[in-house]
Amino acid sequence: MSRLRVAVLASGNGSNLRALHGASLEEEARFAIALVIGNNSGSGALAYAREAGIPAAHMSGRTHPDPEELDEAMRATLVAHDTALVVTAGYMKKLGPRVREEFGGRIINIHPALLPRHGGQGMYGKAVHEAVLAAGDAVSGPTVHFVTEEYDMGAVIARSEVPVLPDDTVDSLAERVLAAEHLLLPAVVQIIATRDPAADR
Ligand code: GAR
Repeated sequence: MSRLRVAVLASGNGSNLRALHGASLEEEARFAIALVIGNNSGSGALAYAREAGIPAAHMSGRTHPDPEELDEAMRATLVAHDTALVVTAGYMKKLGPRVREEFGGRIINIHPALLPRHGGQGMYGKAVHEAVLAAGDAVSGPTVHFVTEEYDMGAVIARSEVPVLPDDTVDSLAERVLAAEHLLLPAVVQIIATRDPAADR
């Protein structure tokens, strides 16, 4: 049984990458992590990929100062690794048009709030949980959605709810949402992989 080849793009700690990679090693997994691209050379995500023996590339404005060249280099690297699905997991950069065109409809993102609430430019990491607390929301949780040109605007694939507790801080809420992310993202990728003809090549 061949597995859907997934590329993960990550900027930071890479805990979602770890969750996805762990799930991909399960016997019933229909996907494999084929490549990790990180824009931050010192990130936990790239360190994990290297330790785990996953092909890893650092690609950023440092390695490719011209944004068009960066976009093309990322596109070419994803294609060279025979990528079938691109997952942005804590990737804090916008994807270029060439990557989006090459993988149209095959790029998904995880966001740490219940979109369409608390999305858009600048809404990442702690800012998202601060907004949830400031709004007095009773529930929060991650959303997995398709990536389009606009931040956090693509169609929602799945969401998972967690409670917002009266004494929550940004950190306690972030921790509860992140734990839900680690379940939701591998589950969504497994469903896509199970239904995707590219997994049977
Ligand atoms: C995750 O909470 C993810 O949802 C969020 O960044 C964190 C990355 O954590 N992404 C965004 O805020 C995007 N708008 P990780 O590096 O440990 O996976």
